[in-house]
Amino acid sequence: MTDELISVKTVGVLTSGGDSPGMNAAIRAVVRTCSQAGLKIYGITHGYFGLINDEIDEMDTHSVSNIIQRGGTMLKTARSEEFRTEEGRAKAAKNLKKYDIDALITIGGDGTFTGANKFSQEHKINVVGIPATIDNDIIGTDETIGYDSALNTALEAIDKIRDTADAHERMFLVEVMGRDTGFIALETGIASGAELALLPEELTHVEDVKRQLHEMLKSQRRSSLVIVAEGDETGGAIKLAENIKDDFAQYDTRVCILGHIQRGGAPSARDRVLASRLGAAAVRVLQEGHSGVMVGVVNNAIKITPMRVAVSKKKEIDHTLIDLAKVLR
Ligand code: F6P
Repeated sequence: MTDELISVKTVGVLTSGGDSPGMNAAIRAVVRTCSQAGLKIYGITHGYFGLINDEIDEMDTHSVSNIIQRGGTMLKTARSEEFRTEEGRAKAAKNLKKYDIDALITIGGDGTFTGANKFSQEHKINVVGIPATIDNDIIGTDETIGYDSALNTALEAIDKIRDTADAHERMFLVEVMGRDTGFIALETGIASGAELALLPEELTHVEDVKRQLHEMLKSQRRSSLVIVAEGDETGGAIKLAENIKDDFAQYDTRVCILGHIQRGGAPSARDRVLASRLGAAAVRVLQEGHSGVMVGVVNNAIKITPMRVAVSKKKEIDHTLIDLAKVLR
């Protein structure tokens, strides 16, 4: 919290990094809360790229009608190399001045917050972050916006794969998103009753995978599902399949990569409510005088975390869930 109260009059909002279902619901909540509070609100298109290139337009309560149920982001998103440079950030600050924007709300993941934090320190801009990423890897919030939707999208696909795997008595290696984190892999693994879930957070030895599968298949199992996080050290589902398929030739191994399907689609009810709460909270904490912080929900209450803390480390996976998955498979 800053020492003085910030008198915010004009707010800018942007989405940045990989999109996630519920970003639109968060934009809607920011815009409508600002309107209710008598604050001017600008939407910045294409994230930091748009901030540098002056893609800035005033919004009002009607600009965000009919978007709460839509995936993607009406403000578009991008990953901006230029914003990583001092010159890029200086151009962005100049554009904020041009529109008298005195506070910025950034919706995205750790990359978004790293940029926002630097920007806020260098140019004394008031910034509040809203965590939105399907990876769920941000500390300071129990869940990030989009995680629940992505989980359910992946699970629906995995259940369908189980049907065909079962019909053909095949082994399927299903790759889910998560470059550095295994939240989706772990929770879809438990929810789908997968035989194994391989995560970047745990050391995976191919020989160990083979041994565990042999064990399980001995006890009458005919089809099997292995969920592989894209960032698992086995190198992903395709590479793992190459390494194990000869040992399980009778199961006619197949690979399915769920990919960007997990990022699209309508946000779940839970994500819409989370995004609505966090959007409103972001405006409120700005008015209360906070800056350089991220808003989250922890134990069902709004929590404020300094951005530098939020980007300092990845959220840890719940090891009790890893143990549970092993007991139940
Ligand atoms: O951070 C979200 C995420 O979907 C990761 O799970 C994934 O590794 C990455 O983004 C994919 O990024 P891109 O859309 O640039 O391929």
